[in-house]
Amino acid sequence: MKRINMIKDNYLLDLTKKYKTPFYIYDGNTIETKYKNILKAFHNCTDFQVNYAMKALSSIAILKFVKKMGACVDTVSINEVKLAFLAGFKANEIFFTPNGTPFSEIEEALNLHVNITLDNMIQIEQYAKLNTKKSIAVRINPKIVAGGNKKIKVAGKKSKFGLALNKIEELHKLKDTHNLQIHGFHIHLGSDIASINSFKDSANVLFNVAKQFKDLKFINFGGGFKVKYKKDDNFIDIFEIGTQLTSLFNTFKKEYSNDLKLIIEPGKFLVSNAGLLLTEITTIKNRHVFINSGFNHLIRPMYYNAYHHIRNISSAKSSDKAYNIVGYICEHDYFGKKRVLNKPSVGDIICIENAGAYSFSMASNYNSRLRPMELFYYNEETTVIRKKESFDDLLTNQIY
Ligand code: LLP
Repeated sequence: MKRINMIKDNYLLDLTKKYKTPFYIYDGNTIETKYKNILKAFHNCTDFQVNYAMKALSSIAILKFVKKMGACVDTVSINEVKLAFLAGFKANEIFFTPNGTPFSEIEEALNLHVNITLDNMIQIEQYAKLNTKKSIAVRINPKIVAGGNKKIKVAGKKSKFGLALNKIEELHKLKDTHNLQIHGFHIHLGSDIASINSFKDSANVLFNVAKQFKDLKFINFGGGFKVKYKKDDNFIDIFEIGTQLTSLFNTFKKEYSNDLKLIIEPGKFLVSNAGLLLTEITTIKNRHVFINSGFNHLIRPMYYNAYHHIRNISSAKSSDKAYNIVGYICEHDYFGKKRVLNKPSVGDIICIENAGAYSFSMASNYNSRLRPMELFYYNEETTVIRKKESFDDLLTNQIY
């Protein structure tokens, strides 16, 4: 499969001598190319903004890099808001899109002056009663089912996300009784979406709601743009979707009297292909290749049945034998089943691709394992952006 991530195998092998595996490495040049492609794709949109969905990969060095490229940031917890501040984002560049978080987090976000998007009537009403002059955006539920698997389809009728369309009437009333200002509408359909039509459907829903409200500043189409995980995989053509959404948006904008911004919120699209997880073979048995990692580091294959391309970069000897690549967790943790690998031996370096998004950010300490180091590669230089955890980190906060 054509590599998108540009870091060469020999370079990676050298790094494994300098830094002990396992570690993640992210290619800043790939992230930058993806970001530039988004800007090119939407270049006909006069007012356009990218909010990086930081839940995909929230390490501060990555946030700083994304900020430097010119993006704003989408956050879903008050701690993500605080990390975004630490990375240098200003309040007006931070968008807080919580789902069912305690109201105290929303109040805290309000005090920090960040943009707030709410998605349920109870909290919108609570917010309205605060009688603050600060406006909010509203996430709506478009009743559109889209996404790679059922765990990441989040905009169907019965989903916990978004305000139901039949609540818009109530929203109008609240707006009038409490002088609540609404400055934007938002939809996020799900993740791994390859269908442009799903986004076009969601645009229609957004425009229908938006035209009932004056003074909007933005319409946010969310994230979910699918990237390639394997050869012949379907994916979203960013140039195609950019052209199509821009055209729909520009037409709507002409009818709508205000200045209006189009926002998208990609996570995976920006960072997924950029990341690699480097591991080492510890033992081999029964066509099982064991590596010094587990679902405590990368849970996507086990939790979503997600495909991650896996290569043995130490061995040049091709083989047609298929192996299961498994981890050291005391549960079935298969990174890949029946994968053809170059002839594996103990000590070989196994590279797991597409490990930029929802990989480190979903890591845990299960089995009292330590989360790995993170490295950042940019213009042929590599820096450590997170140290490996230590045994002491496991003791932090324990009382014994
Ligand atoms: N905006 C909102 C409100 C979201 O909830 C998400 C992701 C995004 C944007 C970015 O979506 P993306 O462009 O990354 O697809 N852990 C799952 C993905 C969960 C996505 C959650 N929300 C996975 O590893 O496949």
